[in-house]
Amino acid sequence: MTRDIRTVDDVMTMLDGLFSDGADRWTDEGAAWWDGFYADRSKPVPFFVPKPDENLAGHVQNGRLKPGRVLELGCGPGRNALYLASQGFEVDGVDLSPAALDWARERARETGAEARFHLGDIFGPVLADQEPFDLIYDSGCFHHLPPHRRISYLALLDRLLAPGGHFALTCFASGGMGCELPDADLYRDRSLHGGLAYTDDSLRTVFCEYEEVELRLMRAQTPESPYFGEDFLWTGLFRRSTLTA
Ligand SMILES: C[S@@+](CC[C@H](N)C(=O)[O-])C[C@H]1O[C@@H](n2cnc3c(N)ncnc32)[C@H](O)[C@@H]1O
Repeated sequence: MTRDIRTVDDVMTMLDGLFSDGADRWTDEGAAWWDGFYADRSKPVPFFVPKPDENLAGHVQNGRLKPGRVLELGCGPGRNALYLASQGFEVDGVDLSPAALDWARERARETGAEARFHLGDIFGPVLADQEPFDLIYDSGCFHHLPPHRRISYLALLDRLLAPGGHFALTCFASGGMGCELPDADLYRDRSLHGGLAYTDDSLRTVFCEYEEVELRLMRAQTPESPYFGEDFLWTGLFRRSTLTA
């Protein structure tokens, strides 16, 4: 018998453990699952292309996002991190998959863009000593988190986003891709079913502490486009108040 839950962290860890191995966990098993996912780079996975998100490139081009310190959460093989580096941003990317980061570092060598890539769980010690960033970017990591980890995610933004800084994400859009089950059912099923769909209003609710700058569907791109875009994803840009609590 175990009666060892004493803190909120203990509850989080217990809830993490309810989920099955694979993409739904970011324990050691989760890292191995993502390593397997990245093993064959020739697979027709949309985000394997070395192109930045169209929304991100648009915000940089129209000056909404200006060069500064940026953290990319779940950066994978680094397509957005390296784009930002090429545009003069100072970039730190974190991902739990060694295979993803090997690929990102190879791409960095090929393109000459420089970014710091860190291996680890975004909620683990890997980000413990970082100073606040001007931009936190997430393309496809947030929707792989179980509901209780939204609490950890908001705490991470609170700790690591500078006053006046921007937070931007892309994630599965309800009706387009992702699991539509209510949060409670995910715990009953012990699965995230490959990632969670969000409505625009659910994103507004989760990120209500931040000013919404833009929230829209991503614009699908043709194969010739220099940008990545799929219309089953939301793209959101939010800004933190310059007033700290
Ligand atoms: C759908 S992929 C997107 C990769 C990349 N952002 C892109 O768009 O090319 C999601 C990534 O998030 C990473 N990931 C998921 N949960 C994570 C966590 N808790 N900490 C760090 N990385 C995580 C996975 O390893 C994977 O590389």
